[in-house]
Amino acid sequence: MDALIIKGGNILSGEVDVSGAKNSALPIMAASILADSPCEIQGVPGIRDIFTMAEILSSMGAKVSVDKQTVKIDASGINDYTAPYELVKQMRASIAFLGPMLAKFGKAKVSHPGGCVIGPRPVDLHLKGLSELGAEIKIEHGYICAESNGLKGADIFLGGRFGSSVLATANVMMAAVMAEGNTVIESAACEPEIVDLGNFLVKMGANIIGLGSPRIIIMGVKRLKGVSHKIIPDRIEAGTFIIAGALCGKDLVIKNIVTEHLKALLDILRKSGVKIEAGKDGIVVNKTEKRKPVDIVTMPYPGFPTDLQAQMTTLMSLTPGISIITEKIYPERFMHVPELNRMGAKIHREASSTIAAGVKNLSGAPVMASDLRASASLVLAGLVAEGETLISRIYHIDRGYEKIESKFVRLGADIKRIQD
Ligand code: UD1
Repeated sequence: MDALIIKGGNILSGEVDVSGAKNSALPIMAASILADSPCEIQGVPGIRDIFTMAEILSSMGAKVSVDKQTVKIDASGINDYTAPYELVKQMRASIAFLGPMLAKFGKAKVSHPGGCVIGPRPVDLHLKGLSELGAEIKIEHGYICAESNGLKGADIFLGGRFGSSVLATANVMMAAVMAEGNTVIESAACEPEIVDLGNFLVKMGANIIGLGSPRIIIMGVKRLKGVSHKIIPDRIEAGTFIIAGALCGKDLVIKNIVTEHLKALLDILRKSGVKIEAGKDGIVVNKTEKRKPVDIVTMPYPGFPTDLQAQMTTLMSLTPGISIITEKIYPERFMHVPELNRMGAKIHREASSTIAAGVKNLSGAPVMASDLRASASLVLAGLVAEGETLISRIYHIDRGYEKIESKFVRLGADIKRIQD
């Protein structure tokens, strides 16, 4: 298994290009099933989740090619409607096959994704939304088996205990675009990745209004055509580099970003005293010594993203004073905390919050990556820690970050990938 060795203390400068958004690319790949002709998706990140998604599509009978940043999908040969356990267990986003498979073929069998290291991951909202469109759904032998004789538009309230759901909104939207009549999704997710998926569907011929708002209205159409589409930049990768800049950047330029998608992060960082300027091609971040502590609460978009909570915890663990970070999306998502504490951080967990008393330095240590974003927080910690940090089980990071160590090395970091 691969591991990363990081020698901390280097200053990061130069330019880094953010890759396309994983969370856009994955549902958009699933949505390509709906098209009558091939789709071409550009700006796709070279990460493991994309290859897993491609593998699932191929296992169903689609023709898929992944060449650099372009994925071509011809779904005309699909003759198997199952997303199998062996592949789904590697990537929870496989649930995004349910909606388009049902809409296109009237049946879908997707392994139940269960929970994962960041806590329970229920799918009740996905099932509720699809049932209200007329699907018959059963859970059998660990699989979600859905069938329909023709979906029908409906008024669906899709809010849950933790607010809106990104992939439930994606699933219902993908199912409703070819349903008979109109669908209204109330409490829809407003994330930019949902807007990107919606724009892809609209290009294909779907009739959707209200994207980016909590009420999405969909007028069903009979067929959708294959199109070419470029994925939006990954705001979570961008945010990770911005936080790296706040920790150890000198005129670090982050390119290929949509600043508007990062407002919650930029606002908090500015409150903390981090110097961030809009440059010609992106944003420029500099390390600031005198940061102030902050109080952060994760929320659905446009709130502070849960996917940047762990990385922000690294920054706050090195910011003088007491910071509070409250996780409102995944109340158990704190696997990074004990590892950061092994490196000298002083973070105390209290229910779904962490309280970080800023320390002057972290010290390099062997640590274990547990999930995608927790791994990124440990990379950030390693970049500024004194001495050497060994991060094991980094396959998690390869799920969501394209060539993370090469990107950081080009900025001046000392990181090596080794076989552990
Ligand atoms: C997506 C993102 C993930 C991000 C998350 C929250 C993708 C591929 N993944 O995951 O990176 O961390 O949004 O921004 O886009 N919930 C229910 N019932 C459901 C579904 C969700 O209660 O049926 C809860 C979840 O447990 C969580 C909250 O709703 O507490 C939000 O989860 P959701 O938006 O569904 O996450 P995903 O779409 O799986």
